[in-house]
Amino acid sequence: MKTGKLLSTLAYTALLMSCNTQKDPMDAYIDELMSKMTIQEKIGQLNQQVAGDIMTGSEQDTEITELLRNGEIGSVLNVKGVDRVKAIQKIAVEESRLGIPLIVGMDVIHGYETVFPIPLGLAATWDIEGIEESAHIAAKEASANGVAWTFSPMGDICVDPRWGRQAEGAGEDPFLGSRVAEAMVRGYQGNNYENEDNIMACIKHFALYGAAEAGRDYNTVDMSHLRMYNEYFDPYKAAVEAGAGSVMTSFNIVDGLPATSNKWLVTDVLRNQWGFDGFVVTDYASIDEMEKHGISDKQHNAALALKAGTDMDMVARAFVETLEKSLNEGLVSQSDIDTACRRVLEAKYKLGLFDNPYKYCDEAKAQNSTYLPEYREVARRLTQESFVLLKNEGNILPLKKQGTVALIGPMSESNGDIVGTWCVASDPTKYNNVREGLEKALEGKAKVLCTQGCNFVDDPYVQTATRTLVPFIDKEQGKREAMDIARKADVIICAMGEDAWMSGEGSSRSDIEMPAPQRELLAALKTLGKPIVLLNFAGRATAIKWESENIPAIMQVWYGSECADALADVLFGDAVPQGKLTVSMPQSVGQLPLYYNYLNTGRPVGEGADRYLNFTSNYIDVRNDALYPFGYGLSYTTFEYSDITLSANEMTANGSLTAKVTITNTGEYDGVEIAQLYIHDLQASICRPVKELKGFKRVALKKGESKDVEFEITPDLLKFYNSDLQYVLEPGMFDLMIGTNSSNKALKKASFEVK
Ligand code: BGC
Repeated sequence: MKTGKLLSTLAYTALLMSCNTQKDPMDAYIDELMSKMTIQEKIGQLNQQVAGDIMTGSEQDTEITELLRNGEIGSVLNVKGVDRVKAIQKIAVEESRLGIPLIVGMDVIHGYETVFPIPLGLAATWDIEGIEESAHIAAKEASANGVAWTFSPMGDICVDPRWGRQAEGAGEDPFLGSRVAEAMVRGYQGNNYENEDNIMACIKHFALYGAAEAGRDYNTVDMSHLRMYNEYFDPYKAAVEAGAGSVMTSFNIVDGLPATSNKWLVTDVLRNQWGFDGFVVTDYASIDEMEKHGISDKQHNAALALKAGTDMDMVARAFVETLEKSLNEGLVSQSDIDTACRRVLEAKYKLGLFDNPYKYCDEAKAQNSTYLPEYREVARRLTQESFVLLKNEGNILPLKKQGTVALIGPMSESNGDIVGTWCVASDPTKYNNVREGLEKALEGKAKVLCTQGCNFVDDPYVQTATRTLVPFIDKEQGKREAMDIARKADVIICAMGEDAWMSGEGSSRSDIEMPAPQRELLAALKTLGKPIVLLNFAGRATAIKWESENIPAIMQVWYGSECADALADVLFGDAVPQGKLTVSMPQSVGQLPLYYNYLNTGRPVGEGADRYLNFTSNYIDVRNDALYPFGYGLSYTTFEYSDITLSANEMTANGSLTAKVTITNTGEYDGVEIAQLYIHDLQASICRPVKELKGFKRVALKKGESKDVEFEITPDLLKFYNSDLQYVLEPGMFDLMIGTNSSNKALKKASFEVK
C-alpha cells in the first residue's frame, strides 16, 4: 500500500538502485523525506499526544484532528480499538501535507486482552521462554488491534515494596531482571518487524525509577554510580543489547537532574557506552514536571531535554510549543532537531509504516486474533506457574473436589480486579472471577458458597479512590455472612489482599500488611478451627507475618485474565505450584528496603540470627531475615539437593568451570524445581554482595526421579564495575552456592579460586 503522498520504501529502494547510489536505503529515504519537511513538521514528529482513552497525568486531550492535519503530531498513545487507530492514522496519512504515518503506542504491560500475571508474577515463574511467549502473544493481539509500539518492559529494580510499581517489574534482582527484560524485548519485537505480529518494545523507566525514596512514587532518587552500574542499570542494558527499539526516560531525578534532561544518562551512558541507536521518549509530561523539579521554564526545559538526547515528548507539548522559538534564539540547533526527527522516522521506517501505514489496522484480523483459546491456554499455564506457595501446613493443599467450600473475601467475585494493574484492553465480561473458576472446576463434585465478607480497606474513600468496583459493605453484616457460610463449609478459601489498583502507578503504601478489615475477618474465621487457605493477591511483596503465624496455607497470587481457572487447577491438584519469589517478603515494613544481595556491614549478625545482639547491625524488635526470602516457594512435592561437584577448584581469567548438583524429587507429586546459583566474591577491590544470583534452571522431575543439573561458571558471571567504573574480573576466592532459595540454610556451598 502507498501512503498517497510518500513513495513506499520499496519503490524508493528500486529508484535508488536504478540511480546506482551507494546510500543505505533507509538513510536515503529519510534524507529525501527530511529535505521536504518544514521545521514545524520536523518538530511535529517529536510530539506525542493522547487521543483521550487512558491518561495517567493531568495533561488533557486537545482537539487532535487539526494538529494531525498540520503535521504537528508524530505519535499517539493508548488509543483503544483498531477502528479508532485507523481513523486517526488516516488523517495523518491522507490529510497532512507529507502524509507521514503515526506510530501508535500503548501500555501493553502484561498482555492485551489475554492478560498474563502482572510482570512481578511472570517473573515468579522464572520461565524465560514462557515470558518471551507471553510477550509475543501480547504483540500478536496488540498489533492486530492497531498498536505498533508497547511501553514495556519495565526494567526498574525495586527493593522497597512500598512502591506500588514493583508490580510492573521483575523484582529485586539485576540478573533475573535482565533475563526477563531481554526475553520480553525478543517476544515483542521478534527478529525483525517484517512480520506484522511484531511490535516495538520500549524499555522503561530509564533510569532508577524503582529506587524512589521511601517507596513513594515519583520521589527523589540519589544513588552512587557504582550501584547504578553494578545493579540498577543491568536490566535496561540487557534490553538495549536485545535490540529494544526505544527507551522511556523516568520521572525521577538522577544525579540531581530530571532523567529526561540528563545528558550523561541519555547520551553518554545509553547511546555512547551501550550503543543504543533507537529513539528516546519521555514519560508522561515529564518535560512539564521539570519545572516543578525546579529546573527552568517550559521552553528551557524542552531545550535541555532535546539537547540531553531525548527525542519524543510524551504529551507535555513542550517540543511543539517551544522548539522553533529555541532554534531562533540559539538554545537548540538545527542538528539537534534533525537528529531527533531522524530517529523517530527511522523507527517508523523500520516498522514498515511508510510501506503500509495501516499495517496494524486490519479489522478482520483484530476480530480473529484476539483472546484466542490457544493464547488463553498459555496464559493459564503461566498463571499456574506464577503462584508462589508460601505455606502448606499439614499439606492442606491440594484440596479434594468434594464437600463444601466457602469462598470469602473482596477478591472473590471481582472481574475488574482479577486482571491486576495496567490492563488497558482487557474485557471483564470474557473471563471468570474466582467464584466462577471454582464453581466450574467443582461442578457436580462439590458445593461453593461465596460472600465478600469484608472491604479491602477500612476507609470508604480509599477503597473508591483505588478504582475497584467492589462495593463498600457494612462491616458487621459482611462478617456475619462470612461466618455463616464458613460454618457450613469443610474448607475456607480466602481471596484477599490488594485490589488491582492498590499496586501500580501512584499506588504507594506506607503499610504493606494485610489491610485491617481483611485481617480481622481472617482472625474471626480462624476461631472456627477449620482448614483455611489464604490466596494473597498482591502487586508487591507484602508483610504477612500475622498470616504466616495464624493461617495454615498461603499462596501468593499475581492476577491475570485466566487467574481463576489457574487457581482452580492448582488448589485442587490438577497442577502443582512452582513459582518462586523474586522479591524478599519482609516481616515488617520497618525492615525496608530489604533484599538478599546486600553488602555486609562490619558488624553483621549473620543470617538466621535469632535474637537481638547489641552493637551489631540489627534491630531490637525484629530479626534481619525476610519472612519469605528471595527465590522461595514451595511445591506439593519436595526436592533434595546433593552436594556440589566442581569440575575444578581453580579457573583462569578466561577459562570456565562447571558446578553440578543432583536434584531428587522426594515427595508424592511430579513437580518443577527452580534451582538457583549464587556467587559471592570473597575479597575484592570494592565491597561485593554477600551473594548474587548468577544462574537458574527450571527442572521438571517426576515423583522419585533424580536429575543432574549443571551450571557453567564463566568470567562474565564474576565480573563487576570497580571504583573506576571499569568492568573487571579480579582474581581471588569465590563461594558458589546452589539450592532452592537464597537463604543460606537452603544452599549447598563450594569454593573456587580465580587465578
Ligand atoms: C507511566 C508510564 C506509561 C505512560 C503512558 C506514565 O504515567 O509512568 O509507565 O508508559 O504513563 O501511559
